[in-house]
Amino acid sequence: MTSTLSIKKDLQIKTKSAYSIIDANPINRPIGVFDSGIGGLTVVKEIFRQLPHEEVVYFGDTGRFPYGIRSSEVIRRFARQNINFLLEQNVKMVVVACNTASAHALDYVKQIYNIPIIGVIEPGAKAASAATSNKRIGVIGTEGTIASGSYTRALHKINPRFKVFGMACPLFVSLAEAGYIDKKATYLIAEEYLAPLKKKDIDTLVLGCTHYPPLKKTIGKVMGRKVRLIDSADETAKAVKNTLSEMGLASKRKSTPYHKYFVSDTPDRLETISKHFLDKVVKEAVKIDITAY
Ligand code: DGL
Repeated sequence: MTSTLSIKKDLQIKTKSAYSIIDANPINRPIGVFDSGIGGLTVVKEIFRQLPHEEVVYFGDTGRFPYGIRSSEVIRRFARQNINFLLEQNVKMVVVACNTASAHALDYVKQIYNIPIIGVIEPGAKAASAATSNKRIGVIGTEGTIASGSYTRALHKINPRFKVFGMACPLFVSLAEAGYIDKKATYLIAEEYLAPLKKKDIDTLVLGCTHYPPLKKTIGKVMGRKVRLIDSADETAKAVKNTLSEMGLASKRKSTPYHKYFVSDTPDRLETISKHFLDKVVKEAVKIDITAY
């Protein structure tokens, strides 16, 4: 069945399945989460912890990964297709668990779809603003996230006096995906990437990419104990929780929720690397053709 999800005439998007927020029992529907790859599982981990009764449908766009080097236009198209797929899974809300997609496509998809959509940048900025004492905040992320200036804008919205220093660290994504967590090579790359930030007297560093949390130990070692590392997963899960309860969409399920994992390529890879991101091995990932959405 084809339906129109758009609320703007000039942005009419056709999707493959009908969707309505007024469903028979919306509270039992899953939360949809997507990322360019498996980094978004760091956000899922926190959703599992804070919302143990919620079911999650995860989509990792592993076939089109990475997003960090792509144009806004392409990232928006990918985000739309990812959300169309999640809507077909009957999700009640979408979490854009990718900083790059949040930076380039969040406002755009929020205009199109009539469901709650939460990104990771505002929650990350909120956590950083609460952590800093000297108001000097570093942000690391993909080239796309840093170039977008989204964190600077989000932080300045909270306090225009914050000094924000951004640094793109694209190799961290591949290192994390390759399971290069505690390796000397990762430490050396981190030293090189982070050297300019170490000179800025920051007391807080935002891990502005959902692939970075597994590298927290290495990044922390390089930055030193005085710098607080912020990953947005915790604050994002809180935002999910608040939105669900404000909208009366929180699950009251008593039974163990059943989560589903989808990717656009190589589902078996999830079995080897998911433990670094989720603390759990995902064995049951299913491959889908995302270009059909
Ligand atoms: N996990 C994505 C993010 O948070 C980055 C990975 C990529 O470049 O696709 O930005």
